[in-house]
Amino acid sequence: MRSGGIIQRIPRDLSSLFRGVLRTLFLLLLARSPSYAVEPLGAISAVDPRAVEVGEEILREGGNAVDAGVGIALSLGYFYPQAGGLGGGGFALVLSGGTIYALDFRETAPRGVTLSAYFLPDGVPIPKATLYTGKAVATPGMPFGHPELIHRFGRLPWERVLEIVIRKGEEGVSVSERLHRDLQRFQKELTAFGDTQQIFYPDGNPLPPHSPFPGTAYTELLRTYARKGRDLFREGIVPRRIAEVVGEFGGFLSEEDLRSYRVRIRNPLRWKVWGYEFACMDLPSSGGFILSGATLLLNDLGFQPGKARRIPYRVAVSKILRILSLYRLEMGDPDFLPSTLPNLLKAEGRAPLLPLLHLHPPPLTDLVQSLFRGGGILAPEGGETTHISVVDHLGTALSMTITLNLPFGSGIYLREYGFFLNNELDDFALTPTNPNVYGLIQGRGNLLEPGKRPLSSMTPCLVMGKGKLLAIGSPGGPRIPSAVLEVLIKLLLFGEPPEKAISAPRIHHQGFPDLLFYEPSLPDEERVELEGEGFTLSAVPSIGEVYLAGWEGERKGRRFFAVADTKRGPGATGRVIYPRPKSRR
Ligand code: DON
Repeated sequence: MRSGGIIQRIPRDLSSLFRGVLRTLFLLLLARSPSYAVEPLGAISAVDPRAVEVGEEILREGGNAVDAGVGIALSLGYFYPQAGGLGGGGFALVLSGGTIYALDFRETAPRGVTLSAYFLPDGVPIPKATLYTGKAVATPGMPFGHPELIHRFGRLPWERVLEIVIRKGEEGVSVSERLHRDLQRFQKELTAFGDTQQIFYPDGNPLPPHSPFPGTAYTELLRTYARKGRDLFREGIVPRRIAEVVGEFGGFLSEEDLRSYRVRIRNPLRWKVWGYEFACMDLPSSGGFILSGATLLLNDLGFQPGKARRIPYRVAVSKILRILSLYRLEMGDPDFLPSTLPNLLKAEGRAPLLPLLHLHPPPLTDLVQSLFRGGGILAPEGGETTHISVVDHLGTALSMTITLNLPFGSGIYLREYGFFLNNELDDFALTPTNPNVYGLIQGRGNLLEPGKRPLSSMTPCLVMGKGKLLAIGSPGGPRIPSAVLEVLIKLLLFGEPPEKAISAPRIHHQGFPDLLFYEPSLPDEERVELEGEGFTLSAVPSIGEVYLAGWEGERKGRRFFAVADTKRGPGATGRVIYPRPKSRR
């Protein structure tokens, strides 16, 4: 009966209202009590807020830090094509099931490279032959590294991760301020390539901010990649076409290079200092060597938590970076060169360096003069490399640096597939005295050879101890280890909060050129002190762009945090991710 129904409904509605109020009160109480507060799913730090949303979505779908990080990296093909997409390489440090792994999906020199193609008849390297040209393109490792990461350490199926990335792309992507700015900065280089010009400069000007991003080809590629995984790049039309395009621009990359590319699982470089355990990338990156040596030498010199003082530590860091960077001369792909580096993890290995750190002025000038003929030019930093840090509530963590080398890599855009190809061959030395674009002089170990991985500075890192876990890294070429070191010093030695540690001014020395680079916000008194120590100072707008994510505290009630550096431009985002709010009925 109708009226009876109404009468019966009133008490039911009242009781459900009452139950609703009780439930709300209960949830409010839970949320206020730290031990029952809603635990975050994780924390993410990356270069673009929309990419961070992709990571958020993946964590909310039950993915772990590795799923989220790979999803973010792939989504950067839409949001940050300067460094994202599938045309480059990278390194990833992963904490999974309590073990730390280092994945090396660095690019390799094509098998067909011939050194003479990079030299003039008189034996002088052809200027810029490894910059914006086909000859600069190395075999990309990303197409193989990303699926490997998901298959080994992920929690979601590969197809599911890609579905989430594709969905985000289909929602419509717009050109960011930062992409527009970089297209403007590199207009001359990029418009030398017909397809790149037509797509990114359709009316002769760079795509304006907020205009639609031309992502359809990339979406199509990701759909097939979701089905075929790495095989898409091993056999068939895709590797054939990539090789063809590179060949058209005079490069050496072949189908066979892609077919035979191997991701390497390496031993991470691990050491303990200041009560923490560090894990970092070893060769073919110089990053781990420099970071481990620097932290351990600082400790030897008495810089320990609670005891570090500001100006003396800057002087010590400058001297240490200056000396350790010189060892790049002895570094290269470990598969090609047995390491002759001193073992800085051992006190005996560091002992010969300690007296040099006490000298004033530092004694490297003769060496620098005799070896360095490059004029001391340091290229401005671009947005060509980026870093992704993700930690999750399951205990997985990812610290991954990916690169095309220079902004937009070689400038060659594959219009059918929607991504740029790298120019990582510039990270090789063409001769032992010829500086690369970063002013780095590198030794015989890093001479260009077929199949070899070029020496890198990328320093993805995981740090654990004192109830904390940190995932950290940065772009910035040779400035990367300096940037990561500076932030870790601020966090672990000075006990500064993450935001402060990342926004503080940084310094950098790379041996060659013999200049101490600093960010303009370095206080005058510190500059004066460093000059007084015999350093020649040179200001640069930024030293790296650090991405940090982590947690601290006990299992229940852990505090997650994520901070991204905005020194190089807008967009970089750090975010703590919570479960999706339950929809109210
Ligand atoms: O692997 C390397 O060291 C370089 N290809 C990284 C370049 C880079 O970080 C540039 N970013 N600003």
